[in-house]
Amino acid sequence: MNAPLSNSALIEKDQAHMIHPLHQNAAHEHGKVWVRAEDSYLYDADGNRFIDGLSCLWNVSCGHGRQSIIEAVNRQMQELAYCSSYNGSSNRPAIELAERLSEICYPSINNFYFTSGGGESTDSNFKLARYYWKAKGKPDKTKVISRIWGYHGVTFAAMCATGIAPYWAAFEPRIPGFSHIPAPDPYHYPEPEDGSSLGVAAANELEKEILAQGADTVAMFIAEPVQGAGGVIVPPDDYFPRIREICDKYEVLLVADEVITGFGRTGKLFALDHYGVEPDLVQFAKSITSGYLPLGGIGVSDEIAETIRGGDKPWMHAYTYSGHPTTCAAGLATLDFIADENLAGQAAEKGAYLLDRLHAELDGHPHVGNVRGKGMMCGVELVEDKANKSWYPPEWGVGPKMTRALIDQGIFTRMRNEVMCIAPPLTTDVPVLDDYIAGVRAAIVEVFGE
Ligand SMILES: Cc1ncc(COP(=O)(O)O)c(C=O)c1O
Repeated sequence: MNAPLSNSALIEKDQAHMIHPLHQNAAHEHGKVWVRAEDSYLYDADGNRFIDGLSCLWNVSCGHGRQSIIEAVNRQMQELAYCSSYNGSSNRPAIELAERLSEICYPSINNFYFTSGGGESTDSNFKLARYYWKAKGKPDKTKVISRIWGYHGVTFAAMCATGIAPYWAAFEPRIPGFSHIPAPDPYHYPEPEDGSSLGVAAANELEKEILAQGADTVAMFIAEPVQGAGGVIVPPDDYFPRIREICDKYEVLLVADEVITGFGRTGKLFALDHYGVEPDLVQFAKSITSGYLPLGGIGVSDEIAETIRGGDKPWMHAYTYSGHPTTCAAGLATLDFIADENLAGQAAEKGAYLLDRLHAELDGHPHVGNVRGKGMMCGVELVEDKANKSWYPPEWGVGPKMTRALIDQGIFTRMRNEVMCIAPPLTTDVPVLDDYIAGVRAAIVEVFGE
């Protein structure tokens, strides 16, 4: 038998034939080929072990290798691997999953439409918002407001809501009718001059934008309860209550993008619960199957669902894999694991420990500008000058340098250039968290000195 190919030999073949998400040749030269995973660890093709510092892509919340999910998928595949869920067809796992979600999601959200991931869910919500306002006799309400540093996926429409400019550059022009307001970032948002709190001032940016666009043209505001890929931005507690008031005042749907925050990562099953706010629409993906199979979806308030059930226009929106029985079976087994292991509670408790320890280890470093987090979702922002919070110039390459240094420490995660994102599986034990924190500190010292 031939010896298995090394990491570098596999990467050479990969570079001959694969185009990757976010493809950049040079960065991929040192890429990792993953061959195995267990709990909170990933193993590359050379047998090296790494802490899975971001739960892969914020999704493997239950950790790797959970037999109950694997077995549920196997059983369902033996019985009915796939069938259509187009109107006129359904299947047991999809029905059961929708019912289960209605029990754990926001009280007014009891209807669910399934997709294969986050971007499809974003697009589904754009279309549902239009559908709803047409049914309500307000067909001009079509515009979408989102936030700078928001990430909502990269289908063409979702990309337009995503507020991270490098995602647009090669694909302009964007679709008209999308605009962005500043993020409620307690580290960078300027001190409000009118005496209001930072959270209220940042939320009032939405009111200004609705008025600038014309309230009768705005369909929805989409926001992650805690911004993830844009650098783990945790809003002040009074931000979302004010956002809810503004959305109600101007008849703008509030859409919670819980693709990362859903299913326990922040310490609650759904993250607007931290702020006592209910959205009109919610979207989820990632952790609903702990990443084991691709599944996403939207949750729809009773009032909006009524326009679909009782509407005179058919809901002509469909994906081949909506309500896929096997992905839904994975979802059900994952929700069982999340409940049985109290993963939201674990995230709250271990997340508080993680954040405390990161503060203790890093706050004193001259290039650590800000440490922040909620639950098992933390960010460490690296700055050139702490006094004025300025970043290193892009050509200095904070992101690539830190990524390499973290790999040297046996940690694999992602950087939003100057922000290190820290989001291991919710099952990660405290000793592994301690290794993670020590590795982060060592990597920062390697790149920036003591
Ligand atoms: C908040 C949020 N929304 C949407 C998406 C897009 O999901 P997908 O990559 O499954 O299309 C992501 C992906 O990271 C996300 O973090």
